[in-house]
Amino acid sequence: MPLVSMRQLLDEAAKGGYGVGAFNVNDMEQIQAIMAAAKETNSPVIIQASRGARAFAQDRFLFHLILAASELYPEIPIAMHQDHGNSFETCKSAIELGYTSVMMDGSLKEDGKTPSSFEENVAVTKRVVDFAHDRGVTVEGEIGVLGGVEDGHGAGGSGLEHVTDPDQAVEFAELTGVDALAIAIGTSHGAYKFTKKPDGSVLKMDVLIAIHKRLPNTHLVMHGSSSVPKDLQDVVNEYGGKLKETWGVPVEEIQLGIRNGVRKINVDTDNRLAMTGAIRKVLWTQPEKFDPRDYMKPAREAMQKVVAQRMTQFGQAGHAGDYAPISIAEIAKGYADGTLATRPLVAAK
Ligand code: G3H
Ligand code: 13P
Ligand code: ZN
Repeated sequence: MPLVSMRQLLDEAAKGGYGVGAFNVNDMEQIQAIMAAAKETNSPVIIQASRGARAFAQDRFLFHLILAASELYPEIPIAMHQDHGNSFETCKSAIELGYTSVMMDGSLKEDGKTPSSFEENVAVTKRVVDFAHDRGVTVEGEIGVLGGVEDGHGAGGSGLEHVTDPDQAVEFAELTGVDALAIAIGTSHGAYKFTKKPDGSVLKMDVLIAIHKRLPNTHLVMHGSSSVPKDLQDVVNEYGGKLKETWGVPVEEIQLGIRNGVRKINVDTDNRLAMTGAIRKVLWTQPEKFDPRDYMKPAREAMQKVVAQRMTQFGQAGHAGDYAPISIAEIAKGYADGTLATRPLVAAK
């Protein structure tokens, strides 16, 4: 199957009432793990690459590895997504490379660290929407700012400093015409999200629900949504790792989100932990090993297990064959003639 539009994938998820995991990749083994999990669970998938991933793997390597996935698994709809684009140019380069979806994270300035103004965010996001929609490419925007820093990207601090204001979310969706909207509800990127199991004082599911009530047809996106399960932390620490005690976003909270408009759920850290634990285990228990396949194979299997579990928990499992792909050229026509709506339905307060 050719790569599909993320918009189509999320529209279908909304019809079916499920969420779709968006998993970060940097190398071949991670792509293989996601595809094996998608096949195992018969799931549509979003494969996403950050700017750091594109730099690490080099654009054309990563692009062709994901294309290889679409050739090898023709039965699985795959959207190829730029995660946290920091500028119009980053998004443009992804689109020109062949990505079918981009995130313009205008919640931060181009340095990827400093929170931007509402006006700056609207302006750069709208510019990306116009360029992308002309080419049939999906756009995710972000309003509010997540906590934490990953690979130099992020405002730092706790996730509670810039929680999304529902009125601003409505205005942002109306002014930009984004296909999907990432919101900040207290989560952070990385392993250290919460110091204990989160409750409503730190994980603002009430804000998410309020936004969904105002924007009932807008696809919401949860970033920083790794669950950081204790069993994955334990494997890392058992074999020489030094992770401090930490909590992520409980799966049941994500499922509550899915019942309230969340269609895309970003997960990276859980997969990093699973792979690192598996690699540490081999190197710690079999120090005589030096063939990378001896530790990359268990690492790939450990990631597959986590991804398959999330696909089942998010509800995307079983839905790979529900629809035929609409070509990106047809999607572009839909944006141009208005059949693919980009103006949100806004409900009264
Ligand atoms: O946005 C966060 C993702 O986990 C990607 O992280 O920028 O270190 O590749 P990265
Ligand atoms: P985690 O660090 O919780 O996996 O979040 C990943 C993410 O939001 C990527 O954009
Ligand atoms: Zn993110």
